[in-house]
Amino acid sequence: MNHIVPVTVGTRESLACDLLVVGCFEGEAPAALETAGLGEAWRAAAAQAAARPGWRGREEQVAETGVAPAGGTGGTGAALALHGLGRRQDLTWRKLAAWLERVADAAQVNGMARLAFLLPRHAETVGGAAAERVARALALADYRFDRFLSDPAARPPRIARVEILPPLREETAYAEALARSGPVAAAVTLARDLANAPANEATPSWLEARAEELARERGIGFTVLHEDELARRGMGGLLAVGAGSAYPPRLLRLEVGQEGPIVALVGKGVTFDSGGISIKPAAAMDEMKYDKCGACSVLALAQAVQELRLPVRLRAYVAVAENMLDSRAYRPGDIVRFANGKTVEITNTDAEGRLILADALTLASGEGAEILLEYSTLTGAVVAALGHYAAGLFTPDDALASSLLAAADETGERLWRLPLWPEYLEEMKGVHADLRNSASRWGGASTAAAFLSQFVGGATRWAHLDIAPVAYVSREQTHHPGATGYGIALTLAYLRRLAGV
Ligand code: BES
Ligand code: MN
Ligand code: ZN
Repeated sequence: MNHIVPVTVGTRESLACDLLVVGCFEGEAPAALETAGLGEAWRAAAAQAAARPGWRGREEQVAETGVAPAGGTGGTGAALALHGLGRRQDLTWRKLAAWLERVADAAQVNGMARLAFLLPRHAETVGGAAAERVARALALADYRFDRFLSDPAARPPRIARVEILPPLREETAYAEALARSGPVAAAVTLARDLANAPANEATPSWLEARAEELARERGIGFTVLHEDELARRGMGGLLAVGAGSAYPPRLLRLEVGQEGPIVALVGKGVTFDSGGISIKPAAAMDEMKYDKCGACSVLALAQAVQELRLPVRLRAYVAVAENMLDSRAYRPGDIVRFANGKTVEITNTDAEGRLILADALTLASGEGAEILLEYSTLTGAVVAALGHYAAGLFTPDDALASSLLAAADETGERLWRLPLWPEYLEEMKGVHADLRNSASRWGGASTAAAFLSQFVGGATRWAHLDIAPVAYVSREQTHHPGATGYGIALTLAYLRRLAGV
């Protein structure tokens, strides 16, 4: 658990690696090969590779060659590979990230434990934000959730280290970015480890124990509300959703930082979402172990904020429950009462996330949150709207929206604002109660957000991030399926700006 690849800024003069990968744009090599400062043997190898007939630097094109040990390579058997990145004007962050991951994958399979990348100058490789994206992608490049694989051969050797050779004069930007990206990557790894854990292990009490352990090891404040306390405080949502499970619900609360604005982070931690009595179809129901991704990211964010010593008063609220079927389970038609006095008619027990979040949001705003950010795998509707390409952002605050969108842009995590018009709230009005927990199929991501808006109390600077599209990747989408830790980097980028550091 918790392994990240050690990434450093390498020195061109004293490079020691098994494989140096040189990124090249189509049509620019060999003339524009950015090999200045490299030892003689490396430059000779680069020139030799570039002279290969047919080498153009096309996307996914590779020209590899051995490097003479005399070049100060730190041993025999070193290799150099030119990798085509396609046309300069076509390179995007997505493509660059896919390339870094592809190279790391292949290096791992080929037992190239010490990797180096020489990055060509481009808008996607210069400046602090680009440097941090690259550094984070590499730090996470060999993340695997493999602790349940019994065949050791199914666990390839880890990448020992990666050296980045930035474009010339970008060394400082990369060195500064690396100092930040380590704790971010560590938090993403923690979030993935927690979220990938299967629901037969990751019960609400398991998640509580992990949070408690994290808080104890890091000197983070920790409190937990169990059923009796939830009942005393009128937290009807967690109690209703958790009622059908053998593993009772909890509300976890972590506290980091003594100065700066009070920022509350709220996470949905449904350890398994069967849909309850309104049971889900069998297909892909296994993916509902990921319904705790928001919670796991929020827990990991507490770790990162503490490690980076960001000057904010962070309060993390994690609502944890398992949504199951049982004679004690809550039912369609039930009316649930909340601590803020509102009543909700249950029209679908599969719309459970908003119910447990209602309790956590009420508590967060009641405890003086100045900024309230909430993360949840809340609706299938947002996946229908955006595909697996972006998370949905819902907030009534335009300034907060633009700050969050800018932060997401900076970290390369796609985020897209969706509407919160009053009509959506109209649809959420109940018949025999103030609200109902589900409406028609249409606009389901916005009606869910409208429901949440009724539980933020006096907070005006609040945002709901529906991360269902991007919180995890399934085996149809990637070679390495699992939780992504989406939202951690963008939240830290946002908090850094907020705190002015
Ligand atoms: N956890 C699901 C949302 C979800 C679906 C996340 C697919 C990731 C992938 C949520 O609890 C849910 O079931 N939402 C319902 C709401 C509906 C009943 C109003 C949905 O989206 O169908
Ligand atoms: Mn559900
Ligand atoms: Zn759910």
